[in-house]
Amino acid sequence: MGLSKKDLISIHDLTVGEVATILDVTRKLKRKQKSGEPHQYLNGKMLAMIFSKASTRTRTSFEVGFWQLGGHPIYLSDESSQIGRGEPVRDTARVLSRYVDGIMIRTFSHESVIELAKYADVPVINGLTDLLHPCQALADIFTIKEKLEVLKGRKLAYIGDGNNMAHSLMFGCAKSGMNMVCASPKGYLPNAEIIDLAQKDAAETGCTIQLEEDPFKAVAGADVIYTDTWASMGQEEEHEKRLKALSRYQVNGELLAAARPHAIVMHCLPAYRGEEITDEVMESPQSVVFDEAENRLHAQKAIMALLMSDEVL
Ligand code: CP
Ligand code: NVA
Repeated sequence: MGLSKKDLISIHDLTVGEVATILDVTRKLKRKQKSGEPHQYLNGKMLAMIFSKASTRTRTSFEVGFWQLGGHPIYLSDESSQIGRGEPVRDTARVLSRYVDGIMIRTFSHESVIELAKYADVPVINGLTDLLHPCQALADIFTIKEKLEVLKGRKLAYIGDGNNMAHSLMFGCAKSGMNMVCASPKGYLPNAEIIDLAQKDAAETGCTIQLEEDPFKAVAGADVIYTDTWASMGQEEEHEKRLKALSRYQVNGELLAAARPHAIVMHCLPAYRGEEITDEVMESPQSVVFDEAENRLHAQKAIMALLMSDEVL
């Protein structure tokens, strides 16, 4: 089956049909893993995983997922490789392409991932940049489908910092026909170019991507409330300033009560209780954050299998 592009860098690069395929293969692989059915589509393959930022979920789910598919992952950090000492991305890309069958990268600059993919002969998967977090958003869309069954016409309200997560959710919602409203204060709005691209994608599937300053207006009629940290990796020194600027945008019991009664609460994690979300909401029956974290495993296995295997899944 496969995907038309060599790499997974942004959900925007995928067709509507390819997003649906990833969701479908995710479902199949999750079922196989739960029932103990073998699914070693990447037997003997090697994956290099480059991490220039911290990770719990991404590292573990990629590593476990690749093993489950029959492959062997290799972890490279800035400290343990020449990447942290300044070896150019284009050299790293060409060297790793001689050893491995795929590269997953988590780093700061989005342009570095684009350059890596340009010079690599093997598929490159974006495991988060300052701009995008596509694997998380695909796992999230899968989770919404699992919980709410129908995606088309649903409303996702993203509350908080207009960051990498907001950007990838915009593309994820647009490609799957979900309406999204992003509520962020001035100065913390999503990237204007991303909004524009996502709105064009949304026009294709007949949904809308909108901004709304008031978090209560944003959650009215919402089926999904989503939030993320107010200070992403690399913004640690802005933490105090961001706490003040975003304080009205906390996902708490009052905000949750303003959404539809069946609304689910999502967070890519790690969560900072008492900041972007309260402990009460994180632990409420409406919170699906740990199913969402589990689905990273299944969605990434689907992405890797589709990019790196010729077998029809
Ligand atoms: N959600 C997510 O990507 O988590 P990690 O930073 O732990 O990988
Ligand atoms: N926006 C967060 C997501 C972490 C998974 C960050 O970039 O740190």
